[in-house]
Amino acid sequence: MATIKSTSYSIYIGDKSFDALNNFLSKNKYSSYYIICDEHTFEFCLSTLLFHIPKLNDAEIIELESGEDKKTLETCLQVWGALTDTGADKKSLIINLGGGVITDLGGFVASTFKRGIDFINIPTTLLSMVDASVGGKTGVDFEGIKNHIGTTCEPKAVFINPLFLETLSERQIKNGYAEVIKIALIADAKFWQELKKLKHAKEFCTEKIITKSVELKNAIVKKDLYEMDLRKSLNFGHSIGHALESALLKFNKDILHGEAIVAGMIMEAELAKILKKISQKEYKEIIKYTTSIYKKIKITKEIEAQLLKYIIHDKKNEAANLCFALPNNIGHYNLACGIQMDLIKKVLSNY
Ligand code: GLY
Repeated sequence: MATIKSTSYSIYIGDKSFDALNNFLSKNKYSSYYIICDEHTFEFCLSTLLFHIPKLNDAEIIELESGEDKKTLETCLQVWGALTDTGADKKSLIINLGGGVITDLGGFVASTFKRGIDFINIPTTLLSMVDASVGGKTGVDFEGIKNHIGTTCEPKAVFINPLFLETLSERQIKNGYAEVIKIALIADAKFWQELKKLKHAKEFCTEKIITKSVELKNAIVKKDLYEMDLRKSLNFGHSIGHALESALLKFNKDILHGEAIVAGMIMEAELAKILKKISQKEYKEIIKYTTSIYKKIKITKEIEAQLLKYIIHDKKNEAANLCFALPNNIGHYNLACGIQMDLIKKVLSNY
């Protein structure tokens, strides 16, 4: 098992992470336990968790409807209500068992309930293992804008057990792998060279890949928890990608976060090339590898118009100054501000 130390908590990775969780629950005394899950993790993950962690057999289960469209304040009201009705107190522990929606929303609920109670994350998708569960970003979407309302509040621990990936579809594995590609492109050129050799979904989610990705993300978060500078690098592909994801969801299109982020990385890699932050050769490498794994997304004129509106809302922007986190040679990062809308329109039309 790998143990990665973050600012104030540990991240345990591997099949022994259940032992680490038993240990955590023995050492830390809580008045009650609440497991937040969705219908998928209720069906596929909860019984495994309860089998391995006897202390949780008395936990209250809060089952939410799955889906990014449920990552809302209305769902939070439902959870705050359930916590209140069952007498949760300051010493209750919330256990987020699920993908990014559950860890983001559950963390937000915990960070605001009675001004903050402890929570731990048990991510069950590759996306939440390598990204969402680590780093203390919590929140929900609002008026169609992704993660518009939220807090920075770190979990007490994260337990990553790759066992949960066995029931994930190939599409879901690729969804998470997009964040693995991202972290390599902005933080570790050698890791990128290793990734380029991988072709099949089962190679994308090994314990080694997960551990390396979490180590890289954690190293960034430890230096800049509140995203004043370096952490902005984690937004590579997300300025356009998030806006694209929000626009597609607004028009009820079937899109996963990672799929939109890959399209965002392709377009933002072109921006990086135009701004001479990466070479033509590096640009081609990025396009060749990502397009060998991910299908192109159809962006209609109405989606493009909506996407451009969402870009303005991007949290990295200050006033009307559009900023993008771009690779600066593969494996490094640079924040490029003052990007003109025309340039964004150009990479959109070239996509
Ligand atoms: N997912 C980006 C971050 O945690 O900063």
